Amino acid sequence: YEPDPARRPVLAVDQGTSGTKALVVCPERGVIGSGAAPVRPRFLPGGLVEVDPAELFSSVVDAGRAALADAGEPVTAVGLANQGETVLAWDPETGRPLTDALVWQDRRAESVCAELTEHAEELRDLTGLPLDPYFAAPKMAWIRRHRTRRGVVTTSDAWLVHRLTGAYVTDAATAGRTQLLDLDTAEWSPRALDLYGLGDEHLPRVVDAAGEFGTTTAFGPEIPLTGLLVDQQAALLAQDVTAPGSAKCTYGTGAFLLAQTGPRPRRSESGLVGCVAWRLAGRTSYCLDGQVYTAASAVRWLTDLGVIAGAADLDPVGSAVPDAGGVTFVPALAGLAAPWWRGDLRGSLTGLGLDTTPGHLVRALCEGIAAQVAALADAVAADLGEPLTSLRVDGGLTRSALLMQTQADLLQLPVEVSALPDVTALGAASVARIGLDPALTIAEAVPKWSPAAVYEPRIGADLAAERLDRFRSAVAALTERTP
Ligand code: G3P
Repeated sequence: YEPDPARRPVLAVDQGTSGTKALVVCPERGVIGSGAAPVRPRFLPGGLVEVDPAELFSSVVDAGRAALADAGEPVTAVGLANQGETVLAWDPETGRPLTDALVWQDRRAESVCAELTEHAEELRDLTGLPLDPYFAAPKMAWIRRHRTRRGVVTTSDAWLVHRLTGAYVTDAATAGRTQLLDLDTAEWSPRALDLYGLGDEHLPRVVDAAGEFGTTTAFGPEIPLTGLLVDQQAALLAQDVTAPGSAKCTYGTGAFLLAQTGPRPRRSESGLVGCVAWRLAGRTSYCLDGQVYTAASAVRWLTDLGVIAGAADLDPVGSAVPDAGGVTFVPALAGLAAPWWRGDLRGSLTGLGLDTTPGHLVRALCEGIAAQVAALADAVAADLGEPLTSLRVDGGLTRSALLMQTQADLLQLPVEVSALPDVTALGAASVARIGLDPALTIAEAVPKWSPAAVYEPRIGADLAAERLDRFRSAVAALTERTP
């Protein structure tokens, strides 16, 4: 008996900032194999964050092979999710990198953005994105000015796909993270390319998230690559946030809140990013997106300082005290993104005393992350004209009951935790399945979603407002100090 190809397992690879995770996903039996490989970005003075592209590729291969070995079954297709705004220059003839990859957190392209300030509004109208070095285009322009004019300069997905299959493509949602994509047509914008001085670039073809993108033997047997989607949007799909007005937040290296807005392109009036959720069968869905640049990377920072032994320590250490003891932490360790867009700011810790313990610092960090997510939820509500009614969450940090409870408290909303922390790969699996069988609907391709846990608010609205006010005042103090 040979099952229908669309019912056989697929390999889904999530190439993230701090590592690559791979799952073998079967439509009937769920996850039947997994693998992971670390990636070590270099954090350099001046807000530079780089990674060796060879490490990105080998982590994809290692994680994928480990997942296949774990499953012990053949797969019919591969789907790839990628970190969104990480760029490099490479030689399209040989596939050889010509630069290190500049990671999305890298701030060096501030200078490019500063030169484009007078066009900020025009770029935002064209692309839905504010002017900020977080996005890919400023980094691409920086590479052209300061590193090399040779080869092509693209987001990391286009390079990985070329290494895997020889195709030269990027999915519409990744392209939508560049500030070079016309938000209305979901095609490259000649005007945005001109403004960035990238008008002569040979850019990858913008494709749907599901399709035939060639075959790869990188994981052993020859397998077609049929799914491509930027990671946050892959998590949006896997969390089944497909109804307009619903939202999810992924707590990874950073935290990313995305709200589905449906088929109409939408520009935020509240400082969020309006961008492509996915393009399938030529039809584009859109979302609003807000970012917290440092979530797990702020936990790693606290770990590196020796305050805690790792993320698993958040709950035991934080639970040793009843509250943050008057400590306020703005964990803007790589600046603040939406809705403030102050990447130049650095974090602050205030209210410290001789009685401050690691527990207070942990609670203050959880509040600092959760308060930023609450600000993003407020911005979404302002744009949509109605408040969110709940938030679906995923990512490694959802294992911290303390952070999740703090989030529910500050949002004053139920927080619904995904059963599987790493849903991004599931989104890649879903688009890979649609690529194999274009007749599949999103509802058929996305696994049924039900939460593993739901955190209800345990503090009243007044106390939540007081804590959010304290956080906002701390942010205001930072912005006043660095106008
Ligand atoms: O926008 C950056 C995002 O794509 C990175 O996600 O999972 O690597 O933190 P992650």
